[in-house]
Amino acid sequence: MIRRAASLCLVTLLAISSVLAQSTSKEVTLIKAGRLVDVKNGRVLTDQAILIEGDRIKEVGPSKDIAPHAPPGAKVIDLSNSTVLPGLIDCHTHVTSQPGNYYEDIFRRSPIDVAVTAHVYAKRTLEAGFTTIRDVGAGEFIDVALRNAINAGSVAGPRMQVATLTIGSTGGHGDITGFSPYLKFGSFSGIADGVDEIRKLIRFEIKNGADLIKLLATAGVLSEEESVGAPQFSQEEMNAVVEETAMWGKKVAAHAHGAEGIKRAVRAGVASIEHGSLIDDEGIQLMKQKGAYLVADIYNDDYILAEYTRLGYPDKIIEKEKKVGRAQRENFQRAVKAGVKIAFGTDAGVYPHGWNAKQFAHMVRWGLTPMQAIQSATVNAADLLSWSDRVGAIEPGRFADIIAVNRDPIADITVLEQVSFVMKGGAVIK
Ligand code: ARG
Repeated sequence: MIRRAASLCLVTLLAISSVLAQSTSKEVTLIKAGRLVDVKNGRVLTDQAILIEGDRIKEVGPSKDIAPHAPPGAKVIDLSNSTVLPGLIDCHTHVTSQPGNYYEDIFRRSPIDVAVTAHVYAKRTLEAGFTTIRDVGAGEFIDVALRNAINAGSVAGPRMQVATLTIGSTGGHGDITGFSPYLKFGSFSGIADGVDEIRKLIRFEIKNGADLIKLLATAGVLSEEESVGAPQFSQEEMNAVVEETAMWGKKVAAHAHGAEGIKRAVRAGVASIEHGSLIDDEGIQLMKQKGAYLVADIYNDDYILAEYTRLGYPDKIIEKEKKVGRAQRENFQRAVKAGVKIAFGTDAGVYPHGWNAKQFAHMVRWGLTPMQAIQSATVNAADLLSWSDRVGAIEPGRFADIIAVNRDPIADITVLEQVSFVMKGGAVIK
């Protein structure tokens, strides 16, 4: 009986792992792609084929050249009526949770409540065509646990880089302010003041699984401190964040809305500015000089203004959103025109996971061509993640992370909101 149960278990485990894990056997698949977006060269090719072996892309090119290389018995996926693209990358998510009621979230949800539902959002994100995410802040190392479970094939989700606890100052965007000073939460703290505390916190995060460091360089919207854009670390502190993080071979993503905080973070050498709402001309020039990416969540404003009053968020937060929402879009357009590097990042988790692609339409409305918008979520994003060897393009050697849509995304970028096919690491997800 025990043995039967054990072998049943094994069968079940094998079945699950073949569904969830990337295909590790050397199974060969041929995808016929009617149209294929060549994100590196910014063009759309027709009648292409992709040969996949195991979890990697082996060959890609005109169908007539590639198809004959497929061994007999290779699985064939016919996407000849679709447009095929590399799996999308969102460089700014908080995949472990989603907003509910403001006070309920603070006072009635434990980290364990968050942890048990995180995988649901990971799956939604993957099914929406986002095969890689850079998750920029979560409590209690839930992001590390989720990433590890996905990598082990235990749950379905995108490839993840995780930032663990956001690093912020006392009273800053990552602190809980506006409540009684006697209120204490028993959680790991991402609060650090001064160079020594900052260095120690970074070491602690990297020890416990951080792939990158998230710095809260300025105030924010969804927190109760007064000014939305004020810097919250000195230049010296920001320099220490970047220097310490680099020592461990990692990059820094800086949350920054205000002009001065953006400049401090860029001078310190962060890899990306998140939000960038109130950036000025000097900040734009600095970003260009330093090659920093702008990751601007320009869909967010729509959702916050439509839903957050209903969710019980204090008026002062809604007022702060009104100060940055429109300005952020206009400044995004200025940065695009000036030639700042753009990577796609949505802040999904402020709005529902799986809606990530809604931001593409805004990026096109505010200055990018549809091809540039797609590049921001593929080649550029992969570059920001230092993962150009594995994701971000359909190219031999990279993971077979491939999506398809039924209509032409170059003619209408909103078709990316309805992805019809998703493959991650050679395994068909949808
Ligand atoms: N997490 C960000 C913050 O609280 C969200 C900003 C949303 N607003 C926007 N316009 N992008 O600061």
